[in-house]
Amino acid sequence: MLNNTCAAGTKPLRVLVMVSGGGTNLQAIIDRVKDGTITNTEIVGVISNNKNAYALTRAEENEIPSLCISPKDFETRGIFNGKLLEAVESFEPDLVVLAGFLVVIPPEMIRKYENRMINIHPSLIPSFCGKGYYGLKVHEAALERGVKVVGATVHFVDEGTDTGPIILQKAVEVQQGDTPEVLQRRVMEQAEWKILPRAIDLIANGKVRVEDHRTVIEQ
Ligand code: GRF
Repeated sequence: MLNNTCAAGTKPLRVLVMVSGGGTNLQAIIDRVKDGTITNTEIVGVISNNKNAYALTRAEENEIPSLCISPKDFETRGIFNGKLLEAVESFEPDLVVLAGFLVVIPPEMIRKYENRMINIHPSLIPSFCGKGYYGLKVHEAALERGVKVVGATVHFVDEGTDTGPIILQKAVEVQQGDTPEVLQRRVMEQAEWKILPRAIDLIANGKVRVEDHRTVIEQ
């Protein structure tokens, strides 16, 4: 378990990070907990659906408990959904962070973690989001449309796809000659790795509340 000292009397936020791939967003969270930019927070676990995800190596290197659970290992999606929720609950998280987790979240889990589960999406919602917009496809679509500004969004997860209350967004400029890969990297560096840790810190310090499907952030 990786944790940062908390203010006297404040219970640190127990954060569970769910991943499928490289885990650069996980790494950004780890680094910001370590350097004290994220406060009042413990990373209590990492769950991956992919046993080869490099994110699992990052968890191990930082002595964060992790486990892998894949839909492929279960006969039905219903059985997997039940096991996934059990796995999540075993970490007793206050906040679930979807950091590039490519599995559809079971509705029961969405209800259980309402306003306690956040996602990072690599566009300025409501542009380039919803069904089919994930990974490089988001950046391909942005270049195809010819937009000049892209970015990333951290939002609470609700039952729609990328429709939950928006917590933070950050814009990034498109440059002439960008490829989807180059743009993806710039969006990660300039937006995702900054706003995801920032959102966790805000939540850990009780500065985010949801009113009428919109967030109110206390600065
Ligand atoms: C990020 O682009 C994130 O926005 C998206 O999936 C990607 C995950 O990358 N949801 P990484 O595994 O954090 O490197």
